Amino acid sequence: MVDKNWTKIFTDGFRGPASPGHHRIWSAVYGDEYPAALDTHSYITVSELDRMAEDCLLSAGDRLADIGCGRGGPGIWLAARRDAELIGIDIAATALEAACEKASAFGLADRATFQLGSFTDTNIATGSLQAVMSIDALLFAADKAEALAELARITAPGGRLLMTTWDYHTQPDGRPPQLSDHRPVLEAAGFSVLTYAETDQWRERQYRTNVLMIESVEELAAEDGRDPAELLIGLKEMLATNDCMSRRVYVVAEHRR
Ligand SMILES: C[S@@+](CC[C@H](N)C(=O)[O-])C[C@H]1O[C@@H](n2cnc3c(N)ncnc32)[C@H](O)[C@@H]1O
Repeated sequence: MVDKNWTKIFTDGFRGPASPGHHRIWSAVYGDEYPAALDTHSYITVSELDRMAEDCLLSAGDRLADIGCGRGGPGIWLAARRDAELIGIDIAATALEAACEKASAFGLADRATFQLGSFTDTNIATGSLQAVMSIDALLFAADKAEALAELARITAPGGRLLMTTWDYHTQPDGRPPQLSDHRPVLEAAGFSVLTYAETDQWRERQYRTNVLMIESVEELAAEDGRDPAELLIGLKEMLATNDCMSRRVYVVAEHRR
């Protein structure tokens, strides 16, 4: 199968407001662990965000980047919590427009910027960040080693990486090459891995959200005028990739001095 055009998929997916159907499904599966106000497009939980706020070691005025920021919620929340400045990067212009609006709604308009870019081309100055984060996005990078080297380049010595992503035991069809373990690649990029923890109930929660989305395909497609048959193909593909994953991981790493 040919690799998908992720820029088109995400640009189309982030067009229009956040989906009420997505909100309903995530609330049903995650309950209080769903950070509803953040309009996330990921499996991030309230507990993981709280843990990141502790692990990032950011002080007021420090600089944080969120790579693959989507609508911006997790980075905006963390920057607000730690009084940090935020740069959000994503390949989807539609996501960045929503992220700008969200930053304003959270009172962060004067210290949050959002710009088009990618894991391997952030356009952020070398060593200029005290922390970099990425939520459920690295799986879409074509070259994980190159992506993590770029995250190390932009992070100051002693600065931290906070990330959630997946290890895979089998390469899924039509997806960028995946890793069975990110730790050797993180170390080679210049990070010391401090935490590498499987996240709570990840497989069960992903399956439940994916199955509920498939069951709600007509409602979800009607929200933004998509073709239900086409959407169903994408949802089934997403469900199938779960079988290739060995764990979802919460990662904290420090850029070596
Ligand atoms: C599953 S969403 C997560 C969004 C956001 N982090 C959140 O928690 O709501 C994955 C995000 O990664 C972005 N993305 C995909 N490929 C990327 C790349 N090569 N570089 C940067 N961002 C990318 C997508 O546009 C999308 O916003």
